[in-house]
Amino acid sequence: MNSLKGLILSGGKGTRLRPITHTSAKQLVPVANKPVLFYGIEAMAQAGIDDVGIIIAPETGGEIEAAAGDGSRFGVRITYILQHEPLGLAHAVLTAEPFLGRDAFVMYLGDNLLQGGIADLVQAFREHSPDALILLTPVPDPENYGVAELADAPAGEVGRVVRLVEKPRDPATDLALVGVYMFTAPIHDAARAIEPSARGELEITDAIQYLVDDGQRVEPHIVRGWWKDTGRLEDMLEANRLILDNIDARVEGELVDSQIDGRVVVETGARLERTTVRGPAIIGAGSTLADCYIGPYTAVGERCTIRNAEVEHSILLEGAAVCDLDGRMESSLLGRNVSVRRGQRQPRAYRFMVGDNSDISIL
Ligand code: DAU
Repeated sequence: MNSLKGLILSGGKGTRLRPITHTSAKQLVPVANKPVLFYGIEAMAQAGIDDVGIIIAPETGGEIEAAAGDGSRFGVRITYILQHEPLGLAHAVLTAEPFLGRDAFVMYLGDNLLQGGIADLVQAFREHSPDALILLTPVPDPENYGVAELADAPAGEVGRVVRLVEKPRDPATDLALVGVYMFTAPIHDAARAIEPSARGELEITDAIQYLVDDGQRVEPHIVRGWWKDTGRLEDMLEANRLILDNIDARVEGELVDSQIDGRVVVETGARLERTTVRGPAIIGAGSTLADCYIGPYTAVGERCTIRNAEVEHSILLEGAAVCDLDGRMESSLLGRNVSVRRGQRQPRAYRFMVGDNSDISIL
């Protein structure tokens, strides 16, 4: 196998993380202060893939291009490929055909995070030269994913792929398709041969089933580390937790009468006064924190303000502010420049200015 390209899917609609993704791409929502998409690009670079195509949508493509640029800072060359409508993952492959040609490629869903990257898998793909390689992992809610059925195999071996079904109401197994796939040229013919699914998309799951039915060799791999599809708030918080669990402590900002416990990153220009941060946590560049407690698994973006408040297990995007709270804010995701504060007036009352489809829980 000679040339191996990368294809990252960063189009689509992103309805599940609204309102955060009303105006911006879900692939740019940060996990431990780094856009989800960047983890995918870095995984490609680490696996030695330097020719990477990124599928973008008309609504959010500009923002993605502005964030990832020409790829040089990741050590890859990025080609942006516009998909006019989100007509499915197999449709995205067909849209990328002029870029891919007949080359083998790794396809990576831009909202997925895979622990340990893809270098080992790419090596297996190169060594075994199957027609396609898919990744599977057991999940508690298989009905939300593509689900695989494998043939019986001797203990310690993985059976061959028998059937793949996209989001089945009644899943035959708990083995979900992870959003990283390795393909060779026949996937284009498969994508052309299938029909749109009930949700109106050309499903990659159906295209792979086509390969199986056609007698092509589709090699399944069971993922051992963790994997996250960051499409929903709980998954986003969980991904944030998993990544923060592995960060190395680093303090470049300024600490005044403040205390830091465990693995904490304080970026340049951040200033903490009379504040305690219990890691793992990250405080972004230029943020100002005064009289706060920041609990584990919190990622505070750039230029945030937190004053007289307790925040735990949360993600704050850049410019967010949390001030003078009575209780602790936890398991929350605040979008850019969102402000949460308590006023001083009596009688006490809640007062909101909140965008469409926001979700507020007062516990
Ligand atoms: O996360 C794993 C799952 O991803 C698999 O188990 C499923 O088999 C697979 O179909 C896919 O399911 P989702 O419903 O989660 O896919 P989603 O619509 O979220 O799209 C995944 C990524 O691909 C996301 O970054 C948006 C992008 N995308 C999506 C579509 C439909 C495109 O770039 N173009 C598209 O047309």
